[in-house]
Amino acid sequence: MQFKTIIEPFRIKSVEAIKMSTLEERVQFLRDAHYNPFLLNADQVIIDLLTDSGTSAMSVNQWAAMMQGDESYAGAKSWIKLEKAIHDLTGMPYILPTHQGRAAEKILYTHLGGKGKYFISNTHFDTTRANIEFSGATAIDIPVEEAKNYVSSYPFKGNLDTVKLEVLILEYGAANVAAVILTVTNNSGGGLPVSMENAKEVSRICKQYNVLMVLDCCRIAENSFFIHRDEEGYQNKSYQDIAQEMFALADASIMSAKKDALVNMGGFLTLRNETLAEACMQLLIITEGFSTYGGLSGRDMEALAVGLVEGFDADYLHYRISSTQYLGEHIQKCGVPIIYPIGGHAVYVNAKALYNHIPVNEYPGQALVCELYKIGGIRSVEIGSVMFGKYDANGGLIPAPQELVRLAMPRRVYTQSHVDYVIEVFEEIFKTKDHVKGYKINKEPKFLRHFTAHFEKL
Ligand code: F0G
Repeated sequence: MQFKTIIEPFRIKSVEAIKMSTLEERVQFLRDAHYNPFLLNADQVIIDLLTDSGTSAMSVNQWAAMMQGDESYAGAKSWIKLEKAIHDLTGMPYILPTHQGRAAEKILYTHLGGKGKYFISNTHFDTTRANIEFSGATAIDIPVEEAKNYVSSYPFKGNLDTVKLEVLILEYGAANVAAVILTVTNNSGGGLPVSMENAKEVSRICKQYNVLMVLDCCRIAENSFFIHRDEEGYQNKSYQDIAQEMFALADASIMSAKKDALVNMGGFLTLRNETLAEACMQLLIITEGFSTYGGLSGRDMEALAVGLVEGFDADYLHYRISSTQYLGEHIQKCGVPIIYPIGGHAVYVNAKALYNHIPVNEYPGQALVCELYKIGGIRSVEIGSVMFGKYDANGGLIPAPQELVRLAMPRRVYTQSHVDYVIEVFEEIFKTKDHVKGYKINKEPKFLRHFTAHFEKL
């Protein structure tokens, strides 16, 4: 017998209190944070959907493993365990531990990048793009056309446009294409998966032109869940088998372990090419630490070695994806436009369609982020022209292709009643949408401005 309620497949052993707040308090907190929720204190937030990164609850097995952390500088037992766990999953011979994903990006893309080089991706995540551009290189996004259609039910909207890929490689010259980065799932494109068929075609093209293929694999367990569910021929394979098949197509992988590996800190870079691995190792030692710990303590490596396996657990993944779908389906029922189908780690609200009276240069996504906090104490993140907008020569905004707000689900942290509360807040958001006004930016840094920008209400 199949019951329709999908329960959290865990019991809660340790709790962390949530501080409740009033509407009046939140109005003041938001003003003090210059209308940028990144600048709020976490205890001013009731439900924190800012990110699924580093926010997981660890299991008893992870906590127990941490007690065995070997803090030796070189060749620690914890490193041997971690190296094996990463090797078992990725099959790659050279493994470099880093403290998080962007440290691995910094190492690889500094080495490969520089002026005149191009990186091509389904969609570069913001830190990926920033690391590439910081090196002087250019980052080009080529998601498939279907990715722009928010209503079709095509399951693999995370795919990369392989026809465009070949055209671009010929246009730039293969020698100038530093790497093709396949981000699974495609975080900035709705958290939607990449099919195995697409990964195979990307791999084939990369091999044909001798271009490096990198898998940005921080949500590869969730991506494998979708392939298992929706791609023909994968129903009898395990989630690990599916991930391994995808790693086998790539020349390198970068993982922010703060996502599917269920740890609060950690990451790695894996490579097949020895010369490239040696060059990256030099940078690793200069910036992160010795090659057998990177930026990690022994106890971090222990937790990561366990989390890398737990993240593929079938019961966990089923609950994980179901709870994201539950949130998405219910807020859609309230009338709120979202990216469809619903992705793995987050629900993406189409703020441009919800607040169609707010022009893009008044940042409709930021307006929604502020409303969610004000009404319900919910913290979310804008993925639109605040994050990806640029200025033209006259200081006019070149908007991002989409104005989204991401509700990212921390792993194993919130229960169904928390999610039901978020849905109720969205009912109110929908009722009051016509009165909401836009924002302007008062202060911003040159790179990754969304983290620290100050806004003013219009
Ligand atoms: N690649 C992708 C696809 C990511 O989503 C992230 C981080 C990174 C790389 C960088 O990893 O944070 O460990 O340095 N994404 C987080 C997010 C921050 O909220 O989506 P990191």
